[in-house]
Amino acid sequence: TEKLELLYEGKAKRIYKTNDPNILLVSYKDSATAFNGEKKEEITGKGRLNNEISTLIFEKLTANNIENHFVKRLSETEQLVKKVTIIPLEVVVRNVVAGSLSKRIGIEEGTAIKEPLVEFYYKDDALGDPLITEDHIALLAVATKEQVETLKTLARRVNEVLTAHFLSCGVRLIDFKLEFGITEDGNIILADEVSPDTCRLWDINTDEKFDKDVFRRNIGSLTEAYEVILTRLGGQS
Ligand code: C5P
Repeated sequence: TEKLELLYEGKAKRIYKTNDPNILLVSYKDSATAFNGEKKEEITGKGRLNNEISTLIFEKLTANNIENHFVKRLSETEQLVKKVTIIPLEVVVRNVVAGSLSKRIGIEEGTAIKEPLVEFYYKDDALGDPLITEDHIALLAVATKEQVETLKTLARRVNEVLTAHFLSCGVRLIDFKLEFGITEDGNIILADEVSPDTCRLWDINTDEKFDKDVFRRNIGSLTEAYEVILTRLGGQS
């Protein structure tokens, strides 16, 4: 597969066209951003870590029959994915109260949630990705009621697979964000990335944080934290 022109550049990834119209190339960047781009830093090695971790996670999901856009890892920082039309929603699943949920409803960070909570945020930088309800989704017409049900079902299935997998690696999956896309034939599949940039991952014994909160909160080395996740998932660090 040939890497052709740059299609899109985001905060953490670049997306290139390839000579196959149904396949895109994702290149993970060495930049870390938080708070809608307000906090920014170049971190050598971050792109490789997220590419490797995302690869292992997508492979795990594929092995568990959860359809996703991942095709293959190409290099240390690149992977090939299926071309989809991204649904402009961030689907967040929470097993433990943390981050914005803790702030919004005043429950202490670390409090377990009995039934995994699924939330939708509207992907819009100018609006700051607001939390929205299913009625707002209908009003915006970004997904049908049926598609919203599919998103919730898929998000819960991803949660079951990843919670169990991380637990077997000594890691608690606190919460995470997913994005979905629609394929040429109208199927909804998991897309974007699943990495310590998009998940909260705590050590099961010590609650040590191995995710982007290390960067957001200035509480240690991002690459050291992500290396721990890569190693525990069985990857080469
Ligand atoms: O900030 P908040 O607590 O709502 O984040 C919930 C989860 O979603 C966290 O794991 C966070 O890393 C992820 N997230 C993300 N991209 C965003 C917002 C949240 O990956 N734009």
